[in-house]
Amino acid sequence: MTKLVINGGKRLQGEVKVNGAKNSALSIIVAAALATKGECILDNVPKSSDVGTICLILKSLGVEVWFDQNDKLHIVGASLKEYQAPYDLVRKMRASFYTAGLLLARLGKAEVPLPGGCAIGSRPVDFHIRGFTQMGADIVIEHGFMKAQCDELIGTNYYINRSSVGTTINLMLAASLAKGTTVLENCAKEPEIVDLAIFLNGMGANVRGAGTDIIRIKGVEQLHGIEYSIIPDRIEAGTFIFAAAITGGDVLIKDIVVEHIRSPLSKIEEAGVIVERGSTSIRITAPERLKAMDVETSPYPGFPTDLQQPLVAAMCVADGTSVVRENIFDRFRYVDELRRMGADIKVERETAIVRGVKQLTGAPVEVTDLRAGAALVIAGLAASGTTEIYGVDIIERGYASLETKLEQLGADIKRIGSQEEIDVFSSMKKPTRV
Ligand code: EPZ
Repeated sequence: MTKLVINGGKRLQGEVKVNGAKNSALSIIVAAALATKGECILDNVPKSSDVGTICLILKSLGVEVWFDQNDKLHIVGASLKEYQAPYDLVRKMRASFYTAGLLLARLGKAEVPLPGGCAIGSRPVDFHIRGFTQMGADIVIEHGFMKAQCDELIGTNYYINRSSVGTTINLMLAASLAKGTTVLENCAKEPEIVDLAIFLNGMGANVRGAGTDIIRIKGVEQLHGIEYSIIPDRIEAGTFIFAAAITGGDVLIKDIVVEHIRSPLSKIEEAGVIVERGSTSIRITAPERLKAMDVETSPYPGFPTDLQQPLVAAMCVADGTSVVRENIFDRFRYVDELRRMGADIKVERETAIVRGVKQLTGAPVEVTDLRAGAALVIAGLAASGTTEIYGVDIIERGYASLETKLEQLGADIKRIGSQEEIDVFSSMKKPTRV
């Protein structure tokens, strides 16, 4: 059983480089398989296990995928031939549902398992399915699969019921090769949507308006491969902000897009942290004790739901009471684990009331979901004594080398346990074409 063992109380100091964004890489890797000419070469791809999973899914569909010796990811979409995404891989990750948009656009046929619920609530895909239907796909839901087919996807006008990153992405993929123009309204405006649009346009697509409420996609005949670098991970950057803040640290967070974390930076300044903004970095200098503050999550550019859990962890030892309202998901299950470390948190439906305590105490805790894992690491960094965190594999879905980076910043943190997980990346070698 792999675990992270943290002896708390060490102040984080030094510099840390942020990886490429997981939530951009996942959609761009799928989008790369839309190309039927040449190959896509992606740089700054984070080697987290979710990225490994999406690569294995593409390989199972016939796409050639490999990392070269410079850690660049090569994707050759021309060989895509399977329209059935494998359940044993898809069930691991909701973003696998992006293959539905890819398969309908490329093959006119898709059989993709419906993503199940997860620790942050039920995660329906009804908006995705309604959009595909409006684009002319015949869809049957049976045995836990979405089975879709169409002679040709036709451009449509589609209003997405609420801001949804996944729906916006999936329909951008489908519309890129559709006949005619698709107008998506009430789109998500996250930076990862803009990153995908820039990538698609580089491949020869015609996507306008990404980053605003309305995205217009004019379908084209064919897409070609390009070289591209994934944007920095704003959620990893935010995770390091709260890790530095809770330890009274002084940390330079490098290779980021400062604009993408404007709301977390405003909130952490409210908590008493000094933030020095560079062009591609920020310096976080935290006080001995943070001040409590109120926050509510909302779609970009609001405070991101994925940083709600790291923020609550930091507020557990702040001076005063913080009120945190979660408007996107049902994601407070991890609070039970923080309480085992001495946190004083009351949850009422979508609101957590966090009364700051002087000190948390180390304890054995269990990770419930990816960002909850980040929150438990952050709490462990400041807790007195030893914290053992079980469920490391869940953290590694979205963070590559988190404990190594924290150790380099002075944390007393070790990963204990067998490395029985097969390193999926080493299995992805360049195919020898016969
Ligand atoms: C993406 O999830 C991210 N995942 C999430 O990050 C992030 O928290 C979320 O966007 C923020 O909105 C990836 O990019 C891989 P949504 P996604 O569609 O696309 C409801 C992480 O930790 N909804 O924007 O699944 C939905 O239930 C993860 O990196 C429907 O009702 O989220 C939610 O309440 C966690 N029907 C809201 O919309 C649908 O068909 C926003 O979800 C689709 C969504």
